[in-house]
Amino acid sequence: MTIQRAAKAGFCFGVKRAIELAEKAAGTGLTASLGPLIHNQQVVDYLAEKGLEVIHSVDEAKIGQQLVIRSHGVPPETYEEAKERGITIIDATCPYVQKAQRMAASSSANSFVIVVGDKSHPEVKGILGWAGSNALAIETLAEAEDLPYYPRITVLAQTTQQKSHFFAVVEELKKHTGELIVQNTICAATEERQASARELAEKVDLMIVVGGLSSSNTRKLGSICSGKTKTYCIETAEELLEIWFTDAKITGLTAGASTPDWIIEEVYKKMSEFMEKTQIQEAEESAVKTVSTVSDEENMMENFDKGLPKLYRGAIVKGTVVKITGDEVFVDIAWKSEGMIPFEELSATKVSNINDLVKIGDTISVMVMRVENQEGYPVLSRKRANEVEAKEQLAHLAESKEEVQAVVTEAVKGGLLVDLGMRGFVPASQVETGFVDNLEKYIGKTLRLRVIEYDEYKKKLVLSQKVILAEEQEGKKEKLLETLKEGDIVKGTVRRLADFGAFVDLGGIDGLLHISDMAFSRVKHPSEIVNVDDEVEVQILAIDTQKGRISLGLKQLKTNPWSAAAEKYAVGSIVHGKVVRIAPFGAFVELEDGIDALVHISQLAEHRVMKVQDIVQVGQEITAKVIDFKPGDKKISLSIRELLTEASEASARQDLENQPEIPEVTIGEKIGNIPDTDVDTLK
Ligand code: F3S
Repeated sequence: MTIQRAAKAGFCFGVKRAIELAEKAAGTGLTASLGPLIHNQQVVDYLAEKGLEVIHSVDEAKIGQQLVIRSHGVPPETYEEAKERGITIIDATCPYVQKAQRMAASSSANSFVIVVGDKSHPEVKGILGWAGSNALAIETLAEAEDLPYYPRITVLAQTTQQKSHFFAVVEELKKHTGELIVQNTICAATEERQASARELAEKVDLMIVVGGLSSSNTRKLGSICSGKTKTYCIETAEELLEIWFTDAKITGLTAGASTPDWIIEEVYKKMSEFMEKTQIQEAEESAVKTVSTVSDEENMMENFDKGLPKLYRGAIVKGTVVKITGDEVFVDIAWKSEGMIPFEELSATKVSNINDLVKIGDTISVMVMRVENQEGYPVLSRKRANEVEAKEQLAHLAESKEEVQAVVTEAVKGGLLVDLGMRGFVPASQVETGFVDNLEKYIGKTLRLRVIEYDEYKKKLVLSQKVILAEEQEGKKEKLLETLKEGDIVKGTVRRLADFGAFVDLGGIDGLLHISDMAFSRVKHPSEIVNVDDEVEVQILAIDTQKGRISLGLKQLKTNPWSAAAEKYAVGSIVHGKVVRIAPFGAFVELEDGIDALVHISQLAEHRVMKVQDIVQVGQEITAKVIDFKPGDKKISLSIRELLTEASEASARQDLENQPEIPEVTIGEKIGNIPDTDVDTLK
């Protein structure tokens, strides 16, 4: 067996430079990188051991820490933020990316800048940041077709863009501008690696592709090679199996752009050991002239029969669930044996029962983790396949703001978790339009969600159901506002009480029933009149369409007791009532529901009263005389004093009337035995 390496493989110039700068900086003191330096966990772990911490925003940087900007680059605000915080920047932005940033900055002054690339990729976000507001990113030809007309356009590419796609977009852009300036900022590194992998795969019996499984770059290499020959994708040398090489005369070796040399060398070394072993075995076999049976060779070939799909590590294939055991799911992927998904590879979120995730007969996508385990089964991951497929879908959802549905798998501190191929978080404040106190009740329920934050690289996915519900409410509200009129009598449900009134849901919009419009009588708290969930009939008093506010009235639907009050409580009439309130200046007396009258302190008694409570108490029934009635002000004044005075006068009159009659006398005439002197006094 011989091993041939791809002419271009492993680290590109920009990545290599970034790692060297980061490693050097980590050796000089407190250092962090803004995001993982590259998409290779082994390298990230290696740098962490050297002292390179990974942080996700400038805010997280500690005082005195050096901050490494990775090869993707960042927008100018990041430099400013770091400067303000006194953070030292180690700028590992790839010089090719820097060139694209400079072009974006200078072109945006006199043309509209378009960047063709993945909108969620930090490199594209960074370039757009340098262009300012006179720029946008597009990913697809369809997006280019939808663009309006711009007098002048400068178009740039994400450095890893495919040339054919970039130039197809350029062709389309010509129709949308009077002047198109094309800046081809595509870096040749990715294309060179793919071209040399393709070239090598055509010549060899077996290809080994080394790189991080999460790297789309590595998966792309795997896909190119598997189209040409038998291919295995691995992350490290430990994953190599001797059996792969027994049949291969020439084996090719290539690696993704984020694979370090030392991992490639380890793989190469282990492959060489297998090669030596195979050669020794072949020599021994030929010495004893053992004839290899045709059937053995046929059996080996059977594994890679033309009818079987090209399986390689990292490939995503579709299959049908055929068996579910306690902790494994078996999937028919049209391979010589069924593939096996271990329980932990089923979903990104925790579930206690496999049957909640899949059932027999389901067609699912899976990623090949190992082509064969020791029992001969391909080892598969539904979780990782979902993750890869979800990335594309999530980027689309984040951009389009389309609604997506997902089942709640777990309630955690501060929110809910859902599985959208990637674990998504719905903060408690984003579940409903109102406050949610019990998150547990949502487990197993389907939420209607919108992506409000998605960062593929930080693996951050935040969703909201509230924004969808709020928008719908707003729509209903607008419609309802158009149909409602002041004076309408409508039905509603009391949703919430406040000290100043009750909020009544009128079928999509809440109106306020103010405490003063609940009853004609004095109401201390809305709960005296209505309770939450009560169905009520109310009148619309006012509508503010600008602010979307509606004022409601309840008392307006009842007869106003004041309308008959003039007749019932005319000045001079004697009335009965109950003292309901005492103030320093008098006592308020309820004459009937909705009509209160005042007995001023000066009208409580015939003598001077120092304190109202010395004469009357709350709850006491009294009789008084109406001495004033002002219907406009809804004021009735009563007097107890006048009644008392009248009573005293009447009593005095009565006493007088009861006195014995005095005979009429003529002056000078002697009356009986009245002495003369007494007669004089009567004169
Ligand atoms: Fe730079 Fe090209 Fe690598 S842009 S980071 S050299 S792929």
